[in-house]
Amino acid sequence: MRRVLVTGGAGFIGSNLVREIQRRWPRTHVTVVDDFRSGTFQNLPGFQGDVVAKPCHEYRSSVRFDAVFHLASITDTTVHDERLMVHDNVEGFRAILALKAGRVVYASSAATYGIAAERMSEERTPAPANVYAFSKVILDNLARGRAVGVRYFNVYGPGEGHKKAAASMIRQLRQQMKEGRRPRIFKMGEQKRDFVYVKDAVEATLLALRAPPGVYNVGSGQARSFNDVIAALNRTLGTKLETEYFDNPYPFYQPFTEADLTLSRKKLRYRPKWTIEEGIADYQKEES
Ligand SMILES: NC(=O)c1ccc[n+]([C@@H]2O[C@H](COP(=O)([O-])OP(=O)(O)OC[C@H]3O[C@@H](n4cnc5c(N)ncnc54)[C@H](O)[C@@H]3O)[C@@H](O)[C@H]2O)c1
Repeated sequence: MRRVLVTGGAGFIGSNLVREIQRRWPRTHVTVVDDFRSGTFQNLPGFQGDVVAKPCHEYRSSVRFDAVFHLASITDTTVHDERLMVHDNVEGFRAILALKAGRVVYASSAATYGIAAERMSEERTPAPANVYAFSKVILDNLARGRAVGVRYFNVYGPGEGHKKAAASMIRQLRQQMKEGRRPRIFKMGEQKRDFVYVKDAVEATLLALRAPPGVYNVGSGQARSFNDVIAALNRTLGTKLETEYFDNPYPFYQPFTEADLTLSRKKLRYRPKWTIEEGIADYQKEES
């Protein structure tokens, strides 16, 4: 690959992806398009490529890219400005799809499945519960037959600090516990999520380059409870902090997410490597 474009490259997953591309293919020229609305230059230490600080919907280029990874998105799911969310996410992707590119891989989201209580497979009908998820459904619709979607579940790992309240629960609980505070979660901590370490997410994103057009789940394939997360954090941090449980104020709270990986194992050859225990330990090592 000679030329690669990464949108959202100053963000959490995008910057991990940029780092891995530069590690694997040091001669590849990487262009990042990111308007820094949530990302930060601090995620790109030692970056060798070019940065275009524009929103995607304003980006045009006559260059032909061998690969485009479209990760730019408003990622704060509590943003309810529908005009902004749909415009920037969808029109941004439309502009990226108009570029000259060998392969296009884009970030979809498990949020498109909505609130469900069973394992999620790609043929499930989308049921977006917020405008963020709705915008991702439109990306999936636009991409059909033209691009490969990586449908990330709950990604965690180094480089997500800038996301603050939108960062992973693993990050937020770890911060509380590092400051010596008791971790606070909804009663009784048995809600489950498919937490996927960013190194697995990046691997899947690169494997997607060779997959046929379609959308593929990218999770760990195993739902784990918030209680499990806190146990793993206590082990890694060497603490014995007891959990403080409080009432869940949300009537429609996602009780369970788990990626069915049958399709991504087959078509991407994706094999997640990190359990939450291993991922949390590695995360701590990488950021200390
Ligand atoms: N982190 C997760 O758990 C998760 C789960 C599902 C899907 N995703 C998707 O993965 C992608 C990356 O997410 P992330 O966690 O790294 O979030 P992030 O907020 O850290 O990264 C998004 C980046 O895109 C940039 N950006 C936003 N809108 C833009 C626009 N219109 N034009 C140019 N730049 C823009 C931001 O400045 C930021 O650097 C997103 O598309 C997100 O929806 C993430």
